[in-house]
Amino acid sequence: MIVKTQQQLDGLMRIGQICGQTLLHMLRHVEPGITTKQLDNIGAAFMKQQGAASAPIMTYKYPGWTCISVNEAVAHGIPGERVLKAGDVVNIDVSATLEGYWADTGASMIIPPAKPEHARLLDQTRAALYAGMAQAVAGNRIYDISRAIEAVAVRGRYSVIRELTGHGVGLALHEDPTIPNYFQKHYDDVLVEGQVFTIEPFFSLGRGRIRTARDGWTLYTADRMISAQFEHTIVVQAGEPIAVTRVEGGH
Ligand code: CO
Ligand code: CO
Repeated sequence: MIVKTQQQLDGLMRIGQICGQTLLHMLRHVEPGITTKQLDNIGAAFMKQQGAASAPIMTYKYPGWTCISVNEAVAHGIPGERVLKAGDVVNIDVSATLEGYWADTGASMIIPPAKPEHARLLDQTRAALYAGMAQAVAGNRIYDISRAIEAVAVRGRYSVIRELTGHGVGLALHEDPTIPNYFQKHYDDVLVEGQVFTIEPFFSLGRGRIRTARDGWTLYTADRMISAQFEHTIVVQAGEPIAVTRVEGGH
């Protein structure tokens, strides 16, 4: 969507903050012994309290309120009986809708103790999100964001998971445009003030090829290597973008 009025921005901010707070609330409950289903229930209760509905349920009849992807799982992990343990790399992706507005955020974390190479992967993936956000300025092109993200991956010797991208959001979960996480010169659309989309780099320690699990949803790395994702929904401005899903104490 392209935000034209203060009322639209306020609506988007409300659902953005709910997504950010839900994610933070869930991340704070991640500990050894909890199942991903229990974690999802915690997120669902929190979302319901704010009157919001799960975007993946509304859009895709997805079997969970949020997506929880552990270790070799990259994205769209279905909450279930998997018990989290020390050293797991856990990604939680929260997207939701309220009053016709939609927002989307995600983050990865490690249950201590973290291997240094895992901690560094997460640090650099978060850094890539912010490098991308710094290029999300009216007048720049989509590929400026992509190039900035890819540069962080190259510097850290990570692979970019190419199939997964940022996307337009705001009046639906997935809108145009696509925001790739690596440079492609034909992604040359000029960014305009008020434009709403996600930026969500996915980096991996392995080759970055992904497959779909037999459950039909979960995406995992073909080489079973660890990956990380950090995501915000942003509104393009003349200067620094507004990160509507960013909350105090979050990523
Ligand atoms: Co997301
Ligand atoms: Co997204």
